[in-house]
Amino acid sequence: MADSRGRKLIIAIDGPAGAGKSTIASRLARKLGYKNLESGAMYRALALKAIEWDVSFEDEAALVNLADQSRIRLEPSLGGNRVLLDERDVSSRVRERDVTEAASRVSVHPRVREWMVARQREMGIGGGVVMEGRDIGTKVFPDADLKIFLDADPVVREQRRLEQQRIKGPSAESIAAELRERDQRDRTRANSPLLPAPDAVILDSTNLSEDKVLETVEELARKKLGSKSAAK
Ligand code: DC
Repeated sequence: MADSRGRKLIIAIDGPAGAGKSTIASRLARKLGYKNLESGAMYRALALKAIEWDVSFEDEAALVNLADQSRIRLEPSLGGNRVLLDERDVSSRVRERDVTEAASRVSVHPRVREWMVARQREMGIGGGVVMEGRDIGTKVFPDADLKIFLDADPVVREQRRLEQQRIKGPSAESIAAELRERDQRDRTRANSPLLPAPDAVILDSTNLSEDKVLETVEELARKKLGSKSAAK
């Protein structure tokens, strides 16, 4: 969907794991006819390559070198992004536990982030994208037309994650602990910590249904489309 002059929006959705970003971003993108890009999947793809090539998650220079030799592509599709690493479909593999943990570790390095941000900007050129992540509104697209910071109570986020992955029993507690640890790392890293942009709309989805969150975000996007054409 474009404004009366054919311009399409850049929409940034940031927030912690389990707040519902991916679902909202993909449903919103579908409604607007935009591309939905999961920036976290790119960190995951690099993390997977580091695992496979036995590169230390602490070695920033080696990770950047590895990234330079890699082709990481996201293909929007209905059930989320297809993730291609050197043309290999790694969409399911990058969601596994070891890669999830590794992605959080490789993403602390400033030069790894610079590499990612440059590519994410290229993908958003021209607008018509809903990009989700941790630093989209603060770093990747500080001039995004609409910035949403989607949060939720940590206990609720943990429950949603476990339900999504259908995990019960003893492994549930360790997965919840990993999520808390990852959260802490994402929020406290020195470079681009997870923080709402000053001009982000903060939405707490703890007591809101997915449909209600989507409705709110869609309304904000449609308002922006109206005001974009009115302002220019
Ligand atoms: O959104 P996700 O769970 O797929 O992200 C995986 C990791 O990547 C997450 O722990 C933090 C990092 N990440 C980031 O630092 N910046 C982003 N824009 C997206 C993800």
